[in-house]
Amino acid sequence: MTLQAAQKPTDSSKALYGGKGTRRITVHDIAAAKERGEKWPMLTAYDAMTASVFDEAGIPVMLVGDSMGNCHLGYETTVPVTMDEMTLLSAAVVRGTKRALIVGDLPFGSYQEGPVQALRNATRLVKDAGVGAIKLEGGERSLGQTELLVQAGIPVMSHLGLTPQSVNTMGYRVQGRGDEAAHRLVRDAKAAQDAGAFAVVLELVPAEVAAEVTRSLQIPTIGIGAGPDTDAQVLVWTDMAGLTGGKVPRFTKQYANLRQTLGDAAKAFADDVVGGAFPQEEHTFH
Ligand code: KIV
Repeated sequence: MTLQAAQKPTDSSKALYGGKGTRRITVHDIAAAKERGEKWPMLTAYDAMTASVFDEAGIPVMLVGDSMGNCHLGYETTVPVTMDEMTLLSAAVVRGTKRALIVGDLPFGSYQEGPVQALRNATRLVKDAGVGAIKLEGGERSLGQTELLVQAGIPVMSHLGLTPQSVNTMGYRVQGRGDEAAHRLVRDAKAAQDAGAFAVVLELVPAEVAAEVTRSLQIPTIGIGAGPDTDAQVLVWTDMAGLTGGKVPRFTKQYANLRQTLGDAAKAFADDVVGGAFPQEEHTFH
């Protein structure tokens, strides 16, 4: 935050979360929030109904993440997710929302060939699904892609640190530990910013490194497992709401236990059907 921004009186009606705005949020609103030094929340979403709940709750940015692979489509990793799947679910999330900026993820294999392939697939997400921005993994390694997309008028969110599309080479390990790795992360983040990215996701990096990256950039950082000092925080919604089965990452906080609630509802319905308690007269037509 600049000194000038710190001295400006804060206009809370403009806040990304809790503000009064009703029109669709844009990347300009995101830049203004960074100027104001405002922290903001982001959640993933994969369907229209859940997205409408988050939109009504005031979540200003939703990511149709390729985490849909593990969280929605039953794959083991994000790697198999296709452009067809991403386009279908992104369009649903756009239809379910009125205010949130919707960011579509470019899945593995949809941009690694080079800038032209990235532009073709990002254009599809913007035109066919209606997303307001796209996300892709990599800083320096995705420079050409970021530059071409931004030149073409497509806002780009960069994703650094642990990049799950590289699970087969990287594994699921904390990234940016040690001086050399930390410097590389700062370099990557600056490269993404210089190429025109409007925000940078930092996944699974030490808090001190995430804080340094945040201080070094004019664009906002969005942390997931990156400590408290990033501009924004993102969680995978099924982890946040306790729907994910099995072990969830340590950096996740569960704000509900939807798995228990849904399971209980399904059992209560089944018990009523088997016991003859449903349907009753008020559910019946004559
Ligand atoms: O796909 C996803 O959900 C993500 C978030 C973890 C940032 O990339």
